[in-house]
Amino acid sequence: MDLPFAESYKIKMVEPIRRSTRKDREHWIRDSKYNLFKLRSDQVFVDLLTDSGTGAMSCQQWSEMMLGDESYAGAMSFEKMKAAIKEIFGYEYFLPTHQGRAAENVLFSVLVKEGNIIPGNSHFDTTKGHIEFRKAYALDCTIDEAFDTTMEHPFKGNVDPEKLEKVLKENGDRVPFIIVTVTCNSSGGQPVSIENMKMVRKLADKYGKLVVVDGARFAENAYFIKLREPGYQDKSIRDIVREMFSYVDVMTMSSKKDAIVNMGGFTAMRDKTIYNKASVFAILFEGYLTYGGMSGRDMNALAQGLYDGTEFDYLESRIKQVHYLGDRLNEFGIPIQKPIGGHAVFVDAKRFLPDLPKEEFQGQTLSVELYLEAGVRAVEIGTLLSDRDPVTRENRYPTLEFMRLAIPRRVYTNNHLDVVAVALKNIYDRRKEIKKGYKIVYEAPIMRHFTIELDLA
Ligand code: F0G
Repeated sequence: MDLPFAESYKIKMVEPIRRSTRKDREHWIRDSKYNLFKLRSDQVFVDLLTDSGTGAMSCQQWSEMMLGDESYAGAMSFEKMKAAIKEIFGYEYFLPTHQGRAAENVLFSVLVKEGNIIPGNSHFDTTKGHIEFRKAYALDCTIDEAFDTTMEHPFKGNVDPEKLEKVLKENGDRVPFIIVTVTCNSSGGQPVSIENMKMVRKLADKYGKLVVVDGARFAENAYFIKLREPGYQDKSIRDIVREMFSYVDVMTMSSKKDAIVNMGGFTAMRDKTIYNKASVFAILFEGYLTYGGMSGRDMNALAQGLYDGTEFDYLESRIKQVHYLGDRLNEFGIPIQKPIGGHAVFVDAKRFLPDLPKEEFQGQTLSVELYLEAGVRAVEIGTLLSDRDPVTRENRYPTLEFMRLAIPRRVYTNNHLDVVAVALKNIYDRRKEIKKGYKIVYEAPIMRHFTIELDLA
């Protein structure tokens, strides 16, 4: 008999979590204005709001915390992070920032001007937010296959070459760079192939543009390349990562994902001119060049996390756990984005609640239902997150309306995920009874989903 698969780590420290009654949860979610971001963590049993900054660090990372050098300038922790970035990505220059959106802020302050168009593959909300805040446009050039959740495709994060070339041909003068997000969060944690990255590089060279990568989940992307792309089976994750980033000029990274730290990020690049320009904004917004928004101990843990996070055994445990949850949902016939992604399972809320009008926010309604059912916190990746159109101020109804179940790294056991799966099955069985969603009573002008207030429709 084949031995079953098991995680490549064991647990040294645990943190209690609390169960609650449905009655408790009804009060708490009403008091939170049906916005799951407003819940206190002790009101949540299994927290799948995000995989960002919620991972469990390794004992090597914790020991690095003790070795942090907190010098204001020239800290050795900066040198450690520099060496890790050079080794893993091959970049000479980098600026530490307090998290991913801060890296976007620093870099886009140099590269994005009013009226610009930034083509890419389903830009993440903070990326789009930083583009639109500068009165520029984020143009989605993801392949069409990504928008059909029933369609199997190995690289649903890919950029469509025709869509990309069209904008470069017609509006090239307004395009400062192309951004590729690996893995592509908004389309379902879907990977981008090496072949596709090469194509982006080729088009960028043809039209004289930079290629920027949002590398929050670069290692999970490399894992899928190893498993799915012909010719990469025998390559190590680190070799694949080096190749991915050889086609790129600049990267930003929210290190709270694949570097498995609770806080931190950076932007890294080959070109000293971009580094010099970005340095001005880094000092203005984040801090001195050798710490950005981070403490020395955090830089140490991040450097170690880049090594931990690119180990094949770790990635296999991580992604197999995400797929464990996805497989259970598939068994129950629950509609999800296929294939299952790297960091999360994306439930297709439109197909789950087909009778609920989109104006009542299917993704959000399902997320509230799941919380009420079992104290599980998911997040809507749909209409609320898509914000209003900056010009018409109308709601933007995205093609895909998701409830995302993001799995923190090395945190929950498969028993927790069974609770999530069965809770969703119960809701799926009574989905016809869900006839009412929500209406907005308060919203911020941009990135509204974090602070939105809702009421029953
Ligand atoms: N880029 C991607 C692809 C992301 O997923 C995120 C954050 C960011 C940039 C911004 O990074 O949060 O460190 O400022 N994603 C989290 C999520 C919040 O839940 O997916 P940050």
